[in-house]
Amino acid sequence: MPVPARSPVIVGSGIAGLYVALRARELGLAPTILTKSGIDESNTRYAQGGIAAAIGPDDSVELHRIDTIRAGAGIVDPAAATRLTSEAPARIADLVRYGVPFDTTEGRISLGREAAHSRPRILHAGGDATGLRIEETLRARVLEAGIDVRERTRLRALRPAGRGGVVAVVTRASGGAAEEIAGRPVVLATGGTGSLYRQSSNPAIATGEGVAIAFRAGALVTDMEFIQFHPTTFARAGAPRFLITEALRGEGAVLRNAAGERFMPRYDPAAELAPRDIVCRAIEQELRRTGTSEVFLDATAIPRERLLARFPTVCRFLAEQGLDPSKDRVPVSPVAHYMIGGVTTDLEGRTSVPGLWACGEVASTGVHGANRMGSNSLLEGLVFGEHVARQLAHPSPGGPASPPRTLQLPRVVGRGRDGGVRCFREVGEVLWNDVGIVRDRAGLEAAVRRLSEWELQGEPSRRDDLPHPAANAALTAGLVARAALAREESRGAHYRTDFPRPSRRWRCHQGILQVDRRA
Ligand code: SIN
Repeated sequence: MPVPARSPVIVGSGIAGLYVALRARELGLAPTILTKSGIDESNTRYAQGGIAAAIGPDDSVELHRIDTIRAGAGIVDPAAATRLTSEAPARIADLVRYGVPFDTTEGRISLGREAAHSRPRILHAGGDATGLRIEETLRARVLEAGIDVRERTRLRALRPAGRGGVVAVVTRASGGAAEEIAGRPVVLATGGTGSLYRQSSNPAIATGEGVAIAFRAGALVTDMEFIQFHPTTFARAGAPRFLITEALRGEGAVLRNAAGERFMPRYDPAAELAPRDIVCRAIEQELRRTGTSEVFLDATAIPRERLLARFPTVCRFLAEQGLDPSKDRVPVSPVAHYMIGGVTTDLEGRTSVPGLWACGEVASTGVHGANRMGSNSLLEGLVFGEHVARQLAHPSPGGPASPPRTLQLPRVVGRGRDGGVRCFREVGEVLWNDVGIVRDRAGLEAAVRRLSEWELQGEPSRRDDLPHPAANAALTAGLVARAALAREESRGAHYRTDFPRPSRRWRCHQGILQVDRRA
C-alpha cells in the first residue's frame, strides 16, 4: 500500500518529538514516532529545572531575549532568540491546553529563578519533576490521539531518495532485516550527546546518534565544540550522577569548598547564579587550589518544608543516599549535560538536506550561542517544534545558511569490522579527559586521532552497509573534538588553556560538512 506523503516520521520521543507529533496531527497529518527505547524514555523525563517564559508581571519578552543573548557569549543568533522568547508564552499556553499541571501560587503559575535569568521566569510542574510531568502529559495526549508509535525501533541511516527526500533505514530491537521507510518527511528529534561522556547527567540513550546519521547523509552540523557542563550533580563514588537542579541555587543554596568556604563570589559577581561555564570552571579551579576532590552544595539555609515542597525528587534521592539537604551539605561535581550545537537548521527547522527537519537538542539553530541558559532547552523543543509541524503541513523551500567558518571532512570508507564494540566506554574516557571543561591543543589532537581510528573500525567498507552503532558514537564525539580543536579561542562552554580569551576572529558559528574525498 502506498504510504501517504503527509505522514511524517518523527525520530525521538522527548518533548520535541512528542510535541511535533501532536501538532502535526492537529494540522491534519498522520505522523509516526520512532523511538529506540520505550516512548517514555528521553532526556526530557529527567529535566528538573523547568521551562522559561516571560509571563511574570515584572518580566518582558525583551528581557528574556537580552538574557538569552548575554548568556550565549557573543554568538547567539538574534533572530532565533527573538523567536524563542516571543513565542514562549504561546507554547506554554499549548502545554496548559494539553494538561501540564504547572505549579501555582494563589491561582497563578509560580515562577522561579535560575542562573543568568534577570527575572523569576522558570515554570515548574511537580516542583523539580517538570520534565517528567510534561513528558507524561504529552505522551498521554499522543496515545489518546492514536498516533502511530513504534518503540524499540532505531534509526540507523538516512539515504538520499530520488526527488530530493530521504529514506530512513531502521532496525528493530527484536531483530529482523533493516526496513526502509521511503517517501515520507523525516524529523530528527533524537536529543543530545551527553551520555557519550564518562560523567554525564543524561540517560544512557543520549548518544548523539542523530548527529552522526544526519552528517553522513550530507547535513551541515554546527557548533559541536559547545558542550555544556552542569556544575552540580551528586558526586559520591558508586552512586549515580544524579542532577541537583540549578533551581536550588536559585532558591539560595550556595557552593562551599572542602574547608567550608563559600567560593563563588570570588569568581563572579553573580556568584552561584553565574552562567554554568563559569561555575564549572570555578569548581575545577577550587578543587585544584585546595587539592581536594569535592565541593559541596549547601542548602541548609532553606527551610526543610520548602525544600520538600519545591524539590521532592532531589530530596527523595538524597534521602536514599542518607542525606537531608536541610541539614547536610551535598557533595557535587560538574558533568556533561547538554549539546549546544548539532544538526544545523534554519528557524523553520529545515536542515541542509531536503526532506529532513530537526528540532530540540539535536538541532542547532544558533539560539544558545556558546552557552545555553537553563530552562531554555525544553522551550526550544516546543518553539522550533511548532515551526517544524507547520512546515510539515505546508512545506516551503529553504534551509540554513552556511556559517562563515566550515570545516570539510572527507567521507570515511571504513574497515567494516565491529571492533568498536568496546569503544563506547573508551569514547567516554577520551571525551571526558581531553574534550572536557578545560581543553588544550595536545589533548584535542590526541582525542581526534583516537576517535578517528574507532570511527574507521565501525564504519562499513561498502556504502550500502549500516555503520556499527559504536561508529556513530565515535563520529559524533570526533565532530566535537575536531570543532574544539579548530576553535582557537575560549568562549562560553568552550574553554582552552592555550587560547584563554575570546577572539574577534571567532565571533561566529562553526560548521562541519562531509565531502567526498575527490572533491
Ligand atoms: C537544572 O535543573 O539545573 C537543569 C535545567 C536545564 O538544563 O535547563
